[in-house]
Amino acid sequence: MTVIGTGYLGITHAACMAELGHEVLGVDIDSDKVRQLNAGILPIFEEGLDELLRRGLASGKLRFTTAYPEAAAFGDVHFLCLGTPQRPGEYRADVSQLDAAIEALAPHLRRDSLVVGKSTVPVGTAERLADRLTGLAPPGVRVDLAWNPEFLREGFAVEDTLRPDRIVIGARSEYADRVLRDLYAPLGDIPTLTVGYTTAELVKVAANAFLATKISFINAMAEVCEATGADVVQLSRALSYDTRIGGRFLHPGVGFGGGCLPKDIRAFMARADELGVGEALTFLREVDAINLRRRSRTVTLARELLGGSFDGARVAVLGAAFKPNSDDIRDSPALDVATAIQDEGGRVSVYDPAALDNARKARPALDYADSALAAATGSSVVLLLTEWSEFVGLDRGPLGAVVARRNIVDGRNVLDPVAWRSAGWQYRAPGRP
Ligand code: UDX
Repeated sequence: MTVIGTGYLGITHAACMAELGHEVLGVDIDSDKVRQLNAGILPIFEEGLDELLRRGLASGKLRFTTAYPEAAAFGDVHFLCLGTPQRPGEYRADVSQLDAAIEALAPHLRRDSLVVGKSTVPVGTAERLADRLTGLAPPGVRVDLAWNPEFLREGFAVEDTLRPDRIVIGARSEYADRVLRDLYAPLGDIPTLTVGYTTAELVKVAANAFLATKISFINAMAEVCEATGADVVQLSRALSYDTRIGGRFLHPGVGFGGGCLPKDIRAFMARADELGVGEALTFLREVDAINLRRRSRTVTLARELLGGSFDGARVAVLGAAFKPNSDDIRDSPALDVATAIQDEGGRVSVYDPAALDNARKARPALDYADSALAAATGSSVVLLLTEWSEFVGLDRGPLGAVVARRNIVDGRNVLDPVAWRSAGWQYRAPGRP
């Protein structure tokens, strides 16, 4: 098989498929990345993936190329793992990478093959791409398309790929369904659903819309808690015992970010508008708005601790990644908060255990430090914005000794307010008194 597009999804899928025993050729147009991957160098931070990559390369079952003719000759099955980012200035997703991959691959196909989309796409994309494939493939070559959405979480990508909670196959033919079921058979007994293209496309965006809604629900409760003196962390815990609600994705804080949730709910709204059912998803506008309000609320908490202004104050930001155990800074709440504080005149120093290089590239105007203590030295307020275990377990003693003032904003609600207050810190957190 080939895996076209070697981002978070593609590298993980390629390495995991090789681990299952398949012969895998990864394809990307970025020749530097392909060279790195062939040398066993992982361009992203992902738990357990470097080992899988090296094992795949060593076994000869995994390698990478930039050449589409080679990919067409190699694969019976071609997985599409390309990015579908939000278009600049609008809500819609940009699916041009998928179109480009199909244009590059299809004319080189010489035998019947199956193309399998894994990217998150606006509903209706699979049908359109299936038509394009048929149109671009040489006469006499039959190319089938299936849509097989991926639900992996960054930080758990290998685990989620090798032990998925479900497999969804959007297929038009028994052949496509059978090929995919055979291919995933080594994973064991995983609930597998065969559905149409549009349902397969929708499962992914519906799942992410639900998760985003759950997070924004508890963050909306945080707003109400702030107005009443209630404690959203206690509220969330009390809700979690109701098994109909459950405690996962119910952690209040600075809100969701990343390359998926924010852009997926926006693309979903845009697609619903195009389909004439925009009204059905107007609640997602609120989900998005609640989420973004949490960022400005976090800035407000820090400003209040400083007596109403950041002007000239040193501010330490702990965290740049959109979540822990990742170096991904796409739509990161932490970097948005850091930038907003800097725009208000704060002298911000950011530290993150894995995402500093990416953060430096994306936000060169911010200052960066090599450790939490270095970021905090001389600061008037410390903000914990990504809950890396290193920050959750922060030693108050050394930190208290280097800061100018003992002010902390716990943007992820992971610290013990009683312990911090009794050590002389002013502690503030979203949704807590
Ligand atoms: C998400 C989906 O979980 C995954 O199934 C899909 O395939 C891709 O999108 P990911 O982007 O890796 O995965 O991140 P996820 O773990 O879902 O977290 C998203 C954001 O929500 C993070 O910024 C996280 O910090 C935040 N979050 C999560 C909360 O603020 N509260 C929570 O309770 C849970």
